[in-house]
Amino acid sequence: MEQKITSLSKEKRVFHPKEPFSRRAHIKSMAQYKKMYNESIKNPEKFWAKAAEELYWFRRWKEVLKWKPPHAQWFVKGKLNMSYNCLDRHLGSWRRNKAAIIWEGENGDTATWTYQQLHSQVCKFANVLKMLGIQKGDRVCIYMPMIPEIAVAMLACARIGAVHSIIFGGFSSSALVDRINDAQAKLVVTADGAYRRGTIVKLKENVDNAMADCPTVENVVVVKRLEQEVIMHYGRDHWYDELMHSVDDVCPAEQLDSEHPLYILYTSGTTGKPKGILHTTGGYTVMTYLTTKYVFDIKEEDIYWCTADAGWVTGHSYVVYGPLLNGATTVMYEGAPNYPDPDRFWKIIDKYKINVFYTAPTAIRAFIKWGEEWPRKHKLDTLRLLGTVGEPINPEAWMWYYKVIGKGKCPIVDTWWQTETGAIMITPIPGATPTKPGTVTLPFFGIVPEVMTKEGKKCKVNEGGYLVITKPWPAMLRTIYKDDHRYQRQYWSEYPGIYFTGDGARKDKDGYFWIMGRVDDVINVSGHRIGTAEVESALVAHAKVAESAVVGRPDDLKGSAICAFVTLEGKYAPSEELKAELKEWVVKQIGALARPDEIRLTEALPKTRSGKIMRRLLREIATQGIVTGDTTTLEDFSVLETLRDEEE
Ligand code: WTA
Repeated sequence: MEQKITSLSKEKRVFHPKEPFSRRAHIKSMAQYKKMYNESIKNPEKFWAKAAEELYWFRRWKEVLKWKPPHAQWFVKGKLNMSYNCLDRHLGSWRRNKAAIIWEGENGDTATWTYQQLHSQVCKFANVLKMLGIQKGDRVCIYMPMIPEIAVAMLACARIGAVHSIIFGGFSSSALVDRINDAQAKLVVTADGAYRRGTIVKLKENVDNAMADCPTVENVVVVKRLEQEVIMHYGRDHWYDELMHSVDDVCPAEQLDSEHPLYILYTSGTTGKPKGILHTTGGYTVMTYLTTKYVFDIKEEDIYWCTADAGWVTGHSYVVYGPLLNGATTVMYEGAPNYPDPDRFWKIIDKYKINVFYTAPTAIRAFIKWGEEWPRKHKLDTLRLLGTVGEPINPEAWMWYYKVIGKGKCPIVDTWWQTETGAIMITPIPGATPTKPGTVTLPFFGIVPEVMTKEGKKCKVNEGGYLVITKPWPAMLRTIYKDDHRYQRQYWSEYPGIYFTGDGARKDKDGYFWIMGRVDDVINVSGHRIGTAEVESALVAHAKVAESAVVGRPDDLKGSAICAFVTLEGKYAPSEELKAELKEWVVKQIGALARPDEIRLTEALPKTRSGKIMRRLLREIATQGIVTGDTTTLEDFSVLETLRDEEE
């Protein structure tokens, strides 16, 4: 936090939306965007109320916003149901027979579910949940592959007011234990396994390993995805199919209070313990609906594909909820982008004639590395709009995406947001906003971001500072589950009454925001947030490790790579085998996504006189091999020499 943030980007290219796109777009010009934005800022309550009116409410709200910083309530006393708005609302129209989900498995299996079919399955599974004793407010943990049943599980929870907490399938059983116990989940929904890059991920086995340490879980429901032998524990484990046979498909949606919790999603923070981000119903529903409509410019006939896994917030808001609220057709793909070949995504785009495509910069950088010949084999001529999310996109990758995938005719929406914000916050509006490679451009309606100095002053044009959001917004997190104190400290203590994002940014002369990455101890690895403290606590849990410090270093492909400095307990000697053992240990503790790219076994870590590890110096060593910055607070200078000597 104490460093000055300097930006190096000097990007000058500007791309204007093409006239044929703008003509058909929901928002057709900058003038229209500006007018709507100004109105939304002048009177946010009127703006959001108008958006909310496009959805179905069992009872209208009394007050749009009650704001007692840092706690917001939206659409106070209103009653609605997310699942009703995603499904039932469309059943009275021709959309009943429209494809809600088009699914492709990694092994080539496919399925298409209409709104009607999805509705029946969701009602049935909601009845299953009730049969297993799940009541309004109970937590249900979902640990599943990208199959339509994950959407069924989410929507069924939402239907009866149970709170889902999805844990990404790449997490290990110990990560499951922490999250299930924090949420005190009563039920786990999983599958016998998943396909990933041609191999099998044993989800059920991971659940089994976790269960001994999860006393709150009463039942486990298992979807059969593979023909895989799994152990079923009598009385606890149930096959999804068998349960679904025993219930009917009538289940009225609960009339839930606007502030009723919808889900908890764990994300990494600056301490070892993941934070349970809590989202509630009304505001989140309205804002995911509206952002999907305007940012992806969703049209009735569009086929829309967001490649995120439902285990991340992007999957929640823009694979499942946002598209279904809009009555859109959402594509789900189970597997890896390079299986069996590096053109799987492009094959899928041509096969389903996808119009809107939303993916991550890390994927784009991988495609660039695999070579242009792969996308060149495919037509990709149905695409009309491209999007990115998750990390800053470098201008070269942006240009490649624009030319090779979009053929120079598709606008790119580079969308900035977070698990905490629930929905897209800063983004181009595709028919209106001129884009420049590498910037997330301008705020969405009703959003007031700012770049501030440490002292809380507005930064000057192009001066780097901290990105903050100065006004509440409907999809904002309401708290950290069971830790409101941490919520206040983490997001609202830097600048009272103002939301602190943890990102560095600058604003250019046109008011465009350029995101410069995290300013806290969070590393963005391939678009996934990893808390350095989480990896450190995994490492020190190993018997041979005395101390560790984890830093990120720039990586062409992943954005950031994980570099761990480790000191060993006295009696152990450094070795290559031990490094490999420690990497695998972290995978076991957290999951493959947190595997350190590099482990440096060292005799000591650089510390300040007060005993704080100087991560900044380690970052410099990991990145440049030398320390150039200020070392006046360093306690023992000889440590730097040894760290350099131990370089790989
Ligand atoms: C980063 C993902 C630059 C940022 C939706 C943020 C981005 C963190 C962008 C949130 C973008 C997300 N440009 N950086 N378009 N989008 N980020 O919670 O550092 O997984 O704070 O949410 O990703 O990651 P999260």
